[in-house]
Amino acid sequence: MPVKLAAGNWKMNGTGDSLVQIEELAALHRTATCDVLICPPATLIARAAILTEGTDILIGAQDCHAAASGAHTGDLSAPMLADAGAAHVILGHSERRADHGETSEDVHAKVLAAHEAGMTAIICVGETLEEREAGRTLDVVLGQLAGSTPEAATAGNTVIAYEPVWAIGTGKVATLDQIADVHGAIRAALKDRFADGDAMRILYGGSVKPGNAAEIFAVDNVDGALVGGASLKSADFSPIVAALEAAGG
Ligand code: PGA
Repeated sequence: MPVKLAAGNWKMNGTGDSLVQIEELAALHRTATCDVLICPPATLIARAAILTEGTDILIGAQDCHAAASGAHTGDLSAPMLADAGAAHVILGHSERRADHGETSEDVHAKVLAAHEAGMTAIICVGETLEEREAGRTLDVVLGQLAGSTPEAATAGNTVIAYEPVWAIGTGKVATLDQIADVHGAIRAALKDRFADGDAMRILYGGSVKPGNAAEIFAVDNVDGALVGGASLKSADFSPIVAALEAAGG
């Protein structure tokens, strides 16, 4: 059984004042039995990494460029983020796919760059409401998975996050049956393609809150969560971490 992962995605939220949330989280989870990761905005990565040295909290990034360096004004490369203290990087989040037109091919290139820099890639996949209503959920999710995940992915360097787009930041959570179906299909695809596909972690994301975390973590093939809004405050994120630990994290 892989170690479970509670990952927080702060998105474009947080300034120096918010670092206290990470300090509190580190104090609340001194000996976490699951992995606990916070991905703050890039401006806070270095400070967060210094703050969490010697604690059980991991720090990650929310995106990286596919190239290691070069003439790409405003972008950040995987080696730069790793140098700042990020051990993980979220790639292909639906907000990047929608706001920046990122394709699975783009995500694939970024995952390779992250691996090259020694980082763990968290690859996000998920269908829109329109795609779900058209009965295309598994096509879309498995297509994104196949296109975004490189051949050399392993359980050590890659995590998959299933995030139905319609459940992100909306308060609408996928039903437990919907989560079980998609996670089961992702697991089968991973086992088909990778020798250690049964050990690759699959996170659920989309309006995970303290009140629904336990039931989501009880679903087969759910190895943790990628949490947006409820990761911003340690008071909300800590009970989610505790629920994952209780689920055998
Ligand atoms: P949410 O975001 O928890 O605020 O729905 C999840 C995500 O986008 O990773």
